[in-house]
Parts: sequence; C-alpha cells; structure tokens
Amino acid sequence: MAQFGYLEKFGIVFLIALLYYVVKSVVNVLYTYIIGPLVNKVDFKSQGRWALVTGSTDGIGKAYARELASRGCDIVLVSRSYDKLMETAAEIEKDFKVETRIVLADFSDADIYEMISKEVADLEIGTLVNNVGVSYKYPEYFLEIADWEKNINTMIKANVVSVTRMTRIVMPGMVERGKGVVINIGSGSSIIPSPLLTVYASTKAYVEKFSEGLEMEYSKRGIIVQCVLPGFVCSNMSGIRRSTLIAPTAKAFVKSAISLVGTTSNTTGYFPHTLFFYVVNSIHSFAPRFSVWLVTRSMENTRRKALKKYKKE
Ligand SMILES: NC(=O)c1ccc[n+]([C@@H]2O[C@H](COP(=O)([O-])OP(=O)(O)OC[C@H]3O[C@@H](n4cnc5c(N)ncnc54)[C@H](OP(=O)(O)O)[C@@H]3O)[C@@H](O)[C@H]2O)c1
Ligand SMILES: *[C@@H]1O[C@H](CO)[C@@H](O)[C@H](O)[C@H]1NC(C)=O
Ligand SMILES: *[C@@H]1O[C@H](CO)[C@@H](O)[C@H](O)[C@H]1NC(C)=O
Repeated sequence: MAQFGYLEKFGIVFLIALLYYVVKSVVNVLYTYIIGPLVNKVDFKSQGRWALVTGSTDGIGKAYARELASRGCDIVLVSRSYDKLMETAAEIEKDFKVETRIVLADFSDADIYEMISKEVADLEIGTLVNNVGVSYKYPEYFLEIADWEKNINTMIKANVVSVTRMTRIVMPGMVERGKGVVINIGSGSSIIPSPLLTVYASTKAYVEKFSEGLEMEYSKRGIIVQCVLPGFVCSNMSGIRRSTLIAPTAKAFVKSAISLVGTTSNTTGYFPHTLFFYVVNSIHSFAPRFSVWLVTRSMENTRRKALKKYKKE
C-alpha cells in the first residue's frame, strides 16, 4: 500500500466499509423475504388443528382467517357483529372445506374473557392471531379527541388488553403441546413519528414490546411469536380503498406477512413497508425537526378534511 497516500487509504477503507454495508443489507433482505420463507416454511395445521383470529370479519383479520383456512386450519372467528360473523364463517366453510366456530365478543368490553375461554376450552388451538384493533376516527390532538373517555378506553381495551388476555387464554395449551404460533398485529405507527395518533401508536408500542418479551420467554418452549407492524393496508380502518404498491390489499399483505412466520419475529410483514419506514426514519434522523413538521402538517390536513366531512353530515 506504499504507493497510496493517507487520503487514498482512507478512501479505500471507506469504500470497503460501504461495500460491506451494502452487501450485508442485500443479503439480509434476500434472506428475510426470499430464502427464509422457502427454508422455514411453517405448516400451520401441524401446530394444532384450530386457528383463532380476533377481529376476523373484515380487513386484515379476515384475510388471516381465510389464509389459515386455505392452509387447512379450522377457524375460530371472534368479532362483535353477529351477521358479519355468520357471513364470514359460511364463506370460509364453503371456500376451503374447513370447520369454523364463531364467538361473539366486543373487545371494548373487559368482561368477555371468561366467556371466550369457555367457548374455546375444548379446541386445540395451534395458531393465535391477535388482530383486533381500533384507531382514531381521524388524527387529533390528545386533548381534543371526541368522546374522550369512551374512545381512549376502547382503544386501550381492544389494542392492549385483548392481546394480553387472549394470549393468556390460548398459550397454556400451546406450551403443553410444545408448539404453536402467536401472531400479534401492531402497527408501523409505533416505530415512526406519529403525532395526532399518540394513544393509538402507544398502544401498538405495547404490542411490540409484549411480543418481544413473549418471544424471549417462550421460543424455547416451541412457540413462534411474531409481531407484525404494517404500514398502510386497504381496509375500512385505513379508509384506503384502491390498492397500490405502498398500500396493498389485506389479502396480498397477509400472504406476505404469513410467509415470514418462522423467519422474522418482528417485521413490517411487507417489503415495500420496510422500505417506506426506512426512508421515513432516515429523514427523521437526518432532519428531525423537518420530519416532525412534515408529518404534523400532513396529519393536520387529514384532520381538517375529516372535520369538514363530519360537519357536513
Ligand atoms: N389497515 C391498516 O392500514 C393498518 C395499518 C397498521 C396496523 N393495522 C392493524 O391491523 C389490525 C386490523 O386492522 P384493519 O385495518 O383490518 O381493521 P378493520 O378493517 O377495521 O377490521 C377490524 C376488524 O376487527 C373487528 N372489530 C373492531 N372493533 C372490534 C371490537 N371492539 N370488538 C370486536 N371486534 C372488533 C371488526 O369487526 P366489525 O366489522 O364488526 O367492525 C373487524 O372485523 C388492527 O390491529 C390495526 O391496528 C392496520
Ligand atoms: C367503517 O368504520 C367506521 C368508523 O370508522 C364505522 O362507523 C363503519 O361502520 C365501518 N364500516 C364497516 C363496513 O365496517
Ligand atoms: C422491531 O422492528 C422495528 C423496525 O425494524 C424496530 O424499529 C423496532 O425497534 C423493533 N422492535 C423490537 C421490540 O425489537
């Protein structure tokens, strides 16, 4: 290296470091999204005959129920609207020739868990999808949230209490059998700046941390725990109807996320969302004040439009 000066040496070391970083990232992405899903395929039916999905009559939850049924699992649907439960159950039985059971429960109520526990006591549940979740009707400042007590209570009960209590009901059987899968649906809002969605994002931060600890405690007992942190997905909650690359249909999203079970325990579930959060967080660490200004402005715009709409109605 004698013919190189200090500057050239520095440049070479820098290039090697950069190359190392790029190659490592590419290998990581290839493993996570392509090789891992091929090598670590999980046979959900062999984890236990039944799969239980909360909030399973619409959106992402319904897509999980259908995907697990297509893989041969019998399905327990837990949701709050009797008609939608009956309809979804009939659809799944017809399309996939599996058995279903419905449990009518409103997760904004804390006194449902004894009933749910009794309803599923006789079932061998191998997969639990803690999907139910509620968000703000529209982005809003913490103190201005309409119907404050009721909405905050519902959010905490449906997003935090449900995940904790459903896991307590289903996991003992899994531990006894030494196998099982627990999928918890968090939200990308807990890993990016989320002003005007503060309580929702905080409840999802709970889901993320809860999953991390649970995985540490029970992976050695044969339980796979996965936390999914989606970005935008078409659904009634997001209000997005037409799918794009960055906002896929619930079906496409779930196909991707479920293929990562067994490979990643904490994932956006969908590669374009991983890229999206990476860009947002890079901007945030590079120029935090600018990113907060930008996100706040966009949230305020959404809020303004929603308020205008509600006033008209
Ligand atoms: N869509 C997104 O862009 C997005 C992004 C990040 C995270 N997520 C998370 O993904 C999960 C599913 O969201 P989604 O967009 O699929 O929502 P969704 O379309 O609104 O569907 C929610 C499902 O949960 C049920 N549900 C709602 N509140 C309930 C309650 N109090 N008791 C019982 N069931 C209840 C609904 O039943 P009814 O049909 O009877 O209301 C419906 O089946 C949530 O945890 C959400 O936070 C979604
Ligand atoms: C969609 O969500 C709104 C609240 O955001 C709710 O009032 C409405 O009933 C939902 N529609 C369906 C089809 O679930
Ligand atoms: C999960 O992954 C996200 C995105 O990579 C990261 O920001 C977050 O810290 C992780 N959470 C845990 C509990 O590991």
